[in-house]
Amino acid sequence: MNIAERQAMPSLDSIMSAIERYGLAQNALELMTYGFTVVSPATLGVTDAWNERLRDAMVAAYETRNDVSIDVRTSRITAAFYDPFFDEDAVFIEAATNPANLALVRLMLGQGAVLRNMLIIMKGPTADAPDDDSALFHNLPLHVDQDVEGIPMGAGQICHRLNCTWICTDQTDEDDGPTVFVPASQHFGHRVLPHDTDIANTPYPLLRLEAKAGSVVIWQGGTFHSALPRTRPGLRISLNQNYTRPYIQGRNASSYIPNSPRLSPELLDRHPELKRVLGLSQGEYRDIEQREDGVTPLFDPYA
Ligand SMILES: [Fe+2]
Repeated sequence: MNIAERQAMPSLDSIMSAIERYGLAQNALELMTYGFTVVSPATLGVTDAWNERLRDAMVAAYETRNDVSIDVRTSRITAAFYDPFFDEDAVFIEAATNPANLALVRLMLGQGAVLRNMLIIMKGPTADAPDDDSALFHNLPLHVDQDVEGIPMGAGQICHRLNCTWICTDQTDEDDGPTVFVPASQHFGHRVLPHDTDIANTPYPLLRLEAKAGSVVIWQGGTFHSALPRTRPGLRISLNQNYTRPYIQGRNASSYIPNSPRLSPELLDRHPELKRVLGLSQGEYRDIEQREDGVTPLFDPYA
């Protein structure tokens, strides 16, 4: 019995069809159980050339903001900044609306999932870490991203927040300074306890990310994670895309992309999927997902 084909639950049926279409079954299962997964470039349908476009657009965004020129192979900077804008380069729209990525986002957060912000992280060698706020990325405590929004942990049954990070330079060995995760920690029912935050001395099992450039790593808001120091020359470059359920209005809500005055109606009209992902077309897309008999579920966890 193929349940999705019976179309009794349109909100979930379309997600399940997309999971099958893009070959995401293992990613979906890992995300729901281990709390994180790596989606390969082939599964995402992106090429090396596309990844270079995304990486170059992020570097250009940094160069424009800081009036500098950097070489990603030799640079020693460490920097993090929010929200490269969609009108700076269309590749940011393509990243935010990648269909395979969105299938997993909607599986975990429902059809109404909203992209809240994007964070570019450029991490140079830890030995050259600057003595400012960005030094945090070289000495990151084990933490949960849900703390950014102030979302209660619950017991991990309901995912409220997802971090979908485009890996734009390889994170394939320790020297790259990769992210590390505590598998299944979204189910622990508590944040990282203060005396457990040092990854050199924590009681939890740690798993190092292994992802080629062009991959997306997705983790739940309650999944414990940190990062290793970078010992390789040049920059580790990544783009965090943070999605939440639509009712989440964190203490940082004033900085959410959908609240930005820079979003023009013309740009949104040209990109209906972007408009939907930003939560600005609520009500419109549900019209195409109603049951044929017109029955609306009293409670729909995938709406
Ligand atoms: Fe984090």
